Amino acid sequence: MIKNDLFLKALRGETVERPPVWMMRQAGRYLPEFQEIKAKYDFFTRCQTPELASEITVQPIRRYGMDAAILFSDILVIPQAMNIHVEMKPGVGPWLPDPIRSAKDLERVIVPDIHETLGYVMDAIKMTKEKLNDEIPLIGFAGSPWTILCYCVQGQGSKNFDIAKEFCFTQPVVAHQLLQKITDTTILYLKEKVKAGVNAVQVFDSWGGMLSPTDYQEFSWQYMQQIIDALKDETPVIAFGKGCWFALDTMAKSGASALGVDWTCSPKNARYLTGGKITLQGNFDPTRLFSPPSEIKKMVKQMIDEFGKDRYIVNLGHGILPNIPLENAGAFIEAVKEYKQE
Ligand code: CP3
Repeated sequence: MIKNDLFLKALRGETVERPPVWMMRQAGRYLPEFQEIKAKYDFFTRCQTPELASEITVQPIRRYGMDAAILFSDILVIPQAMNIHVEMKPGVGPWLPDPIRSAKDLERVIVPDIHETLGYVMDAIKMTKEKLNDEIPLIGFAGSPWTILCYCVQGQGSKNFDIAKEFCFTQPVVAHQLLQKITDTTILYLKEKVKAGVNAVQVFDSWGGMLSPTDYQEFSWQYMQQIIDALKDETPVIAFGKGCWFALDTMAKSGASALGVDWTCSPKNARYLTGGKITLQGNFDPTRLFSPPSEIKKMVKQMIDEFGKDRYIVNLGHGILPNIPLENAGAFIEAVKEYKQE
């Protein structure tokens, strides 16, 4: 039994005294204690060493007391396990020197044995669960197949993922084969995470908003739906699509327990598009955390009033930025804990 189960209650749609709160990318670069570990160990060493990954996971919890922890890892451990070389270049970000751009390239991409390639993630989950001591739930995550394809084909981050899109539109058969391999791997991976102890999973479709509504259904959503179908009877699933407000009506019928919303969609519109019944998560503009703490608090209160305190998980609309003042991140969390309905 988890002592603070606000997050799980919200996922089940139960009435709560206040909504739960956590922040996407909460285990990260805005924290000085994270920077200390980052200075000593490179990115994938941090991911692959359970002592480090579990320590980084609980750092924000110790400082701010969020209502859920998210395992420190990365969505790109999946292509890595699928035999695609992934580096994290300081100052550049993800770097995949041998991108997948043809049927020939696809031949070397495997659906791996999860224990062999990603056993370290399961060890990190078990160690984190011990550290959390059943105080709060632990979230596991994966990237959506489309978002993973973006990196596998583009080879690095991009403003528009033009090479990835060109690949899908000129070689759709190969693209769908790649998406299916990623989907199969992701399902196996998330099921193992649930077995290892995570209490919910979130699928990050960070680049879904790069696609038109029609292409979104073809190249992203049908694979997200496969993941939800495979996981929903084992654990609550949160589907987050950045820039994907146009698909919220479809997502609301998917069997997901909650949907992530970014700041370009108003709470009212998000409720309207989803039929008012499903739990929503979001959607504070991460850049708004630069506002003074008193203003952040007012805006958070207003956001909760607009979403409603039930069937709602307070979060940012995307990951927290690296240079957010610590006090401002604190004001965001405090505002939720102080929330009272008028
Ligand atoms: O949320 C958390 O605190 C858990 C940790 C987490 C990381 N990455 C750690 C990380 C999570 C959930 C992710 C997911 C992730 N990774 C996404 C989806 C969420 C999103 O923000 O859209 C994406 C697109 C990635 C890919 C990725 N990883 C990028 C683009 C980068 C470099 C740019 C950046 O933000 O720094 C990373 C590196 C990364 N992953 C860092 C962290 C803390 C920073 C680099 C470092 O620590 O050395």
